Amino acid sequence: MDQDIERVLYSEQELASLCDSIAQSINNDYIGRDVVLVCMLKGSIMFYADLVRRINVRCILDFMAVSSYGSAAVSSGKINIKKDLSESIKGRDVIIVEDILDTGNTLYYIKDYLEKRDPASIRICTLFDKPSRRKKPITPDYTGEVIDDLFIVGYGLDYDERYRNLPYVGVLRPEIYR
Ligand code: XMP
Ligand code: MG
Repeated sequence: MDQDIERVLYSEQELASLCDSIAQSINNDYIGRDVVLVCMLKGSIMFYADLVRRINVRCILDFMAVSSYGSAAVSSGKINIKKDLSESIKGRDVIIVEDILDTGNTLYYIKDYLEKRDPASIRICTLFDKPSRRKKPITPDYTGEVIDDLFIVGYGLDYDERYRNLPYVGVLRPEIYR
């Protein structure tokens, strides 16, 4: 599996320090509040698990799974909810935790979908952001790193469901896509 990776972009230590700084911002912003932290399955699992262990405000953990019709590497605008939240978010402060914000199609739809449930607030936290590919007007409130237009895998991120278990984030060798 490691042999499919052309280069490592973020090591385990670098990912841990990105989690430290995002968690510090969230902890400062939400002092005395009670937050619902929404994990967007499956890509966010590693980031989410590392982030929530660094959060020191009262919180509830909840999960959502969505799919978008498209190829393995590009999302489309059509979103299908495969698993919805199990807790109510009415009147609560919500943070959506994503692995990567790309075109914005997914989160633009999900934010609007959750806003109809009358939460007190909704913010977006993403480990990676690729603003150069944005198609929808959506800006994350918390970002680990802004990256170039590269397809990355590992630490939850997949190519065709593979590589999620890599402990680091890397770039695939180009021949893997073909
Ligand atoms: P949109 O375009 O809706 O897409 O913002 C967000 C989702 O697209 C996937 N995505 C990636 N997955 N490496 C991946 O493994 C990438 O470089 C990448 N870029 C986008 C991902 O599922 C994300 O939640
Ligand atoms: Mg994905």
